[in-house]
Formats: sequence, C-alpha cells, structure tokens
Amino acid sequence: MRDYATFDASQKIALIGSFNFNRSKDYPTTISIGPSYFDSYSTWPNVTFLHGFNLGKNGTIGHDTLVGTVPLACKALSNSKLAYWQLGNEPDLYKTSSQGPVRPSWWNETDYVEEWLNKTRTMKQVIQQNCPEVITQNKFQFYAPSFGGTGNSLNLIRTWAAGLDTDRDIAFIDSHNYIGGATQPGVTLQGTLMNHTSTVLSVAKHLNESNLLAAKTDLPYILGETNSLYNEGAPGLSNSFGAALWGVDFNLYCAATGIRRVHMHQGTNYRYASWQPVQTANETLGTKAPYYGNIMVATFLGDLTSNNVSVSDIELGSTYQNAYAAYVNGLLQRIAIIQMRAFNSTTGTTTSGPRPSETFSFRLPSNQNANVKGVSVQRLMANGSDAITGITFDGYSYNWELEQGKPVLLQNVTRNEVVQVTQNGEVSVDVPWSSAAILNLEW
Ligand SMILES: *[C@@H]1O[C@H](CO)[C@@H](O)[C@H](O)[C@H]1NC(C)=O
Ligand SMILES: *[C@@H]1O[C@H](CO)[C@@H](O)[C@H](O)[C@H]1NC(C)=O
Ligand SMILES: *[C@@H]1O[C@H](CO)[C@@H](O)[C@H](O)[C@H]1NC(C)=O
Ligand SMILES: *[C@@H]1O[C@H](CO)[C@@H](O)[C@H](O)[C@H]1NC(C)=O
Ligand SMILES: *[C@@H]1O[C@H](CO)[C@@H](O)[C@H](O)[C@H]1NC(C)=O
Ligand SMILES: *[C@@H]1O[C@H](CO)[C@@H](O)[C@H](O)[C@H]1NC(C)=O
Ligand SMILES: *[C@@H]1O[C@H](CO)[C@@H](O)[C@H](O)[C@H]1NC(C)=O
Ligand SMILES: *[C@@H]1O[C@H](CO)[C@@H](O)[C@H](O)[C@H]1NC(C)=O
Ligand SMILES: *[C@@H]1O[C@H](CO)[C@@H](O)[C@H](O)[C@H]1NC(C)=O
Ligand SMILES: *[C@@H]1O[C@H](CO)[C@@H](O)[C@H](O)[C@H]1NC(C)=O
Ligand SMILES: *[C@@H]1O[C@H](CO)[C@@H](O)[C@H](O)[C@H]1NC(C)=O
Ligand SMILES: *[C@@H]1O[C@H](CO)[C@@H](O)[C@H](O)[C@H]1NC(C)=O
Repeated sequence: MRDYATFDASQKIALIGSFNFNRSKDYPTTISIGPSYFDSYSTWPNVTFLHGFNLGKNGTIGHDTLVGTVPLACKALSNSKLAYWQLGNEPDLYKTSSQGPVRPSWWNETDYVEEWLNKTRTMKQVIQQNCPEVITQNKFQFYAPSFGGTGNSLNLIRTWAAGLDTDRDIAFIDSHNYIGGATQPGVTLQGTLMNHTSTVLSVAKHLNESNLLAAKTDLPYILGETNSLYNEGAPGLSNSFGAALWGVDFNLYCAATGIRRVHMHQGTNYRYASWQPVQTANETLGTKAPYYGNIMVATFLGDLTSNNVSVSDIELGSTYQNAYAAYVNGLLQRIAIIQMRAFNSTTGTTTSGPRPSETFSFRLPSNQNANVKGVSVQRLMANGSDAITGITFDGYSYNWELEQGKPVLLQNVTRNEVVQVTQNGEVSVDVPWSSAAILNLEW
C-alpha cells in the first residue's frame, strides 16, 4: 500500500481505502492516511519496524505525502522502535504494473536513482529537523531498492552502477521473490511449490545477481519480501500443508546459499499468510498451514543470537526431496529432510493402501559419530499435502481453536522417536510422502 497511500493531515480516521476491482480485488488501490495511522506503531511492545514511504506518487501530491509523513513516522518510531527505512515498493514494476503504470516508458535506472537521491535527501532534511537523533545514531539506513524480482524493467546492477548508494545510507540490498503467480496458468502444488528444482531455479536468479553485486559492495543481499505465489497466494495451494513444506525447503535453501535474510510476506486475508489475526468476511481467524513450516525452520536454525550456526545444502538429486545440515561451531547438530511427493488426503494416491514413505540414510562425519549417543526425530506432519488444518510439529498444534495459538501437545501424534547410529556411523529414517523431519544428534 506504500505507493498508493497519500497523506491528509486533516483526516481523523487512520486509513480510508477504496477498491477498484479492475485493478485489484484483494486490496484498495486508492488510500488516504491521516496522522492517527501512525498510532499503530504503539500496538506491539518491543518490536522494531521498517516504515515504507511513498515513491510511486510523483509530482506535488507525492512530495507533500513524503514531507507530511516523515515527521510522524520518525516520532512514532522513536524510543527504539525504528529498524530501518524504505522508500518505494518494487519500483522495477512502476512502468508495467497490472494495477496501473505510474511511470513513463522512458523512466530508466538513471531516472530512478535521481529520484531516489532527491527524495532520500529530502527525507533526511525533514528528519534532521524533527528527529535529529535518527541521524546522530546512524539510523538513517535503508532497505533498497526493494525490486519486485530480477529481470523486470529496472536492473539492480545498473541501478547500483548509477549511484543508488551514493550517500552510503543503504544497509541491505533488498530484492523480492515469488515462485510463481496466484492465477498464473499451470501453477500446481506439486509442479510449482513441492518441487525442489523450481525453488533452486527461483533462488538462482538472486544468487547470480548477488554474485555480480559482490564485486561492487559487501552489503548483505536479502529477500525482503517473499512467499509462495504473488498476489497474496492461491487458495488450496498457498494455504495448504504443501506450501508449509515448500516454505521449509525454500527458507533452508536460502540459508544454505547465503541469502542473508528472508522475510515471509503476509497481511490480513492473504492466502499465503501464516496467521489471520481477525475474523473477516473473507478469512477465518486462526493459525494457518504456513505457520508450521516457520516453526520447523526456526527449530532447525536454533537460537541464532547465541549460537554460531551454519547451514549446508545436502542435494539429494531429486525434484521431490531435499535435506540440509545445521552445524554449530562447525559440528553437525541437526539434519532436516523434506519429502515433497504429493499425498492428497482426500483421494489418497493412485496406489491404494498405506501412505508411501521414503527411507533416507546419512553417514555422520567420522570425527563425530563415535560421540553420538543417538538421534531423536521431530516431524512436521499432516494428513496430506492438501490439508489446511490438523498440522503438527513434533506433536504440537498451534491452532487458535485449541489454546488461542499457544502450543498444545496432542495425544494422537507420534513423537519422541529415536533412531540408532550404526557401527559405521549411519542413521536411517523413514519419512512419509508430504512430510518433513529433523534429526537431532544427541551427545
Ligand atoms: C472497470 O472496467 C469496466 C470495463 O472496462 C468499466 O466499465 C468501469 O468503469 C471500470 N471501473 C472503474 C472503477 O474504473
Ligand atoms: C520489553 O523488553 C524489555 C527488555 O528486554 C523487557 O524487560 C520487557 O519485559 C519487555 N516487554 C514486553 C511487554 O515484552
Ligand atoms: C508521473 O506519473 C504519471 C502517472 O501517474 C505519469 O504519467 C508521468 O509521466 C509521471 N512523470 C514522471 C516524470 O515520472
Ligand atoms: C537512461 O536514459 C538516459 C536518456 O536516454 C540516458 O542518457 C541514460 O544513459 C540511461 N540510463 C541507463 C542506465 O541506461
Ligand atoms: C529535489 O528536486 C527538486 C525539484 O527538482 C528540487 O527543487 C529540490 O531542491 C531537490 N531536493 C533535494 C534535497 O535535492
Ligand atoms: C519442477 O520444476 C521444474 C522447473 O520449473 C520443471 O521443469 C518440472 O517440470 C517440475 N516438476 C514437476 C513434477 O512438475
Ligand atoms: C546464473 O548464472 C549462470 C552462470 O552465469 C548461468 O548459467 C545461469 O543460467 C544463471 N541462472 C539464472 C537463473 O539466471
Ligand atoms: C471479501 O468478502 C466480501 C464480502 O463478502 C466480498 O465482496 C469480496 O469480494 C471478498 N474479497 C475477496 C478477495 O474474496
Ligand atoms: C563459527 O563456526 C565456524 C566453523 O563452522 C568457525 O570457522 C568460525 O570461526 C566460528 N565463528 C565464531 C564467531 O565462533
Ligand atoms: C486433492 O484431491 C481432491 C479430490 O480429487 C481435489 O479436489 C484436490 O484438488 C486435490 N488437491 C490437491 C492439492 O491436489
Ligand atoms: C486426519 O485423519 C484422521 C484419520 O483418518 C482423521 O480422524 C482426522 O479427522 C483427519 N484430520 C483432518 C484435519 O482432516
Ligand atoms: C488428533 O487430535 C486432534 C485434537 O483432538 C484432532 O483435531 C485431530 O484431527 C487428530 N488427528 C488425527 C490424525 O487423528
């Protein structure tokens, strides 16, 4: 909404939005915000925020919105609430947006950088007048350029060469990624999301770009907005357990390949959201399937603030499955396995009978296996890849209807499994189709 919202200092209501279904059925494309919009930053204690300013609106209204909102944003984010700033969302799509182009066809990287420098310098002047501590504490730092992806109408390398970071106020090189689109023809759970090859190809575009940029800057390259299918996800795909499995594979692949941050995008009513905070006409309040993928990723990575964790990709040479290793101080601690063959709980599989599974075997590093007492297993499980509820991680449900999202240990799910390490340091585990597991090495 950042590039749609204009500011009205006399507006009493926080946000007034109007829909134009020709442009989007999902969100208002004309938005006016008033000063009380910024009260929302006091809702959550101990959380830091990035505020995104409007770059899309050009001319007087764009300028007035920027200088009208900068003082309110910097004041609302005082008292340690400020993380970073953003200006403009996906400017590489401004000329081609299906919600209506906002720049002429000749607008190129040079023009974008000129506009960026002009507006960030304007912001800095207004912040200097209203919140000088932001400057003195070196917190005038951006996520940029927040491009929609690679291969759109502006090129990140050319943008960098044109001087985007002339003022040295960029903290993270931010690009966005989706595996495909919500209404893109041919998109399926198995073919698009539960498909390691498609995840690898999708991330490869960013790794290529990041490698080229590495010659020019050592700033971290991140995916500041990402999820399964753009335009808020597709029902039956992005809100399914299959998407949770995709999320585990995607996030761990990014961690293993040096993407320095991954921000899973969500919002109210979004079909790929991890949770829906309020009941609406369009979506029930509750914990959604992708949340369980996040829980597994967080468990696998462990506490990154106090541990020296690194993640390696264990390519299994298959579209349908992959594995990752987590090391702490260089010692193997955990292995994650994601089995992504679709098992549809509604139809079963083409072969009648029990749910198929796959056996995975790993040989532990020889300098470690003598000390490993055993290997415990935590599973990410549901009735099938099409399930949108009934999901557990290590036997716990986080569903809203149980304890309002707090973890609840279910009695009907297997946990506390242990697998043995053989004499020659091998461990084997069965992983049912459409499920994932973490092997924890016990010392
Ligand atoms: C939406 O498109 C239809 C058909 O092109 C048109 O008649 C209508 O005026 C448009 N609505 C708006 C709000 O632009
Ligand atoms: C906020 O963080 C401080 C310092 O870590 C802590 O003492 C306080 O309890 C936290 N407040 C809430 C509401 O979490
Ligand atoms: C400003 O935006 C309008 C569309 O909203 C576009 O027609 C015009 O060319 C833009 N001007 C510049 C200089 O970007
Ligand atoms: C953008 O267009 C201008 C005018 O045609 C040109 O001088 C400039 O080199 C172009 N910038 C890039 C990065 O291509
Ligand atoms: C931004 O551009 C406008 C119009 O060219 C100019 O008047 C203004 O001084 C510029 N601001 C900064 C901070 O460069
Ligand atoms: C997986 O994705 C790749 C790359 O997009 C594609 O070529 C392949 O057909 C997909 N596999 C399946 C089973 O759909
Ligand atoms: C990444 O770069 C390599 C080597 O230059 C190239 O072969 C490959 O096609 C590129 N992949 C993508 C997805 O851009
Ligand atoms: C949301 O619900 C309202 C009211 O039922 C309906 O008019 C609107 O089309 C729905 N929007 C979406 C994106 O389904
Ligand atoms: C983190 O672990 C790696 C080995 O994986 C080691 O090379 C590095 O020095 C460690 N870093 C710190 C800060 O301990
Ligand atoms: C699962 O099977 C049902 C019944 O055939 C079908 O409607 C649904 O689309 C399938 N789901 C997926 C994700 O393939
Ligand atoms: C999962 O399958 C079990 C056994 O068939 C059934 O009792 C349960 O209701 C199913 N859960 C969901 C959410 O469909
Ligand atoms: C396990 O128990 C929960 C809570 O009672 C129930 O919702 C779920 O369907 C059960 N799952 C299976 C696989 O039977």
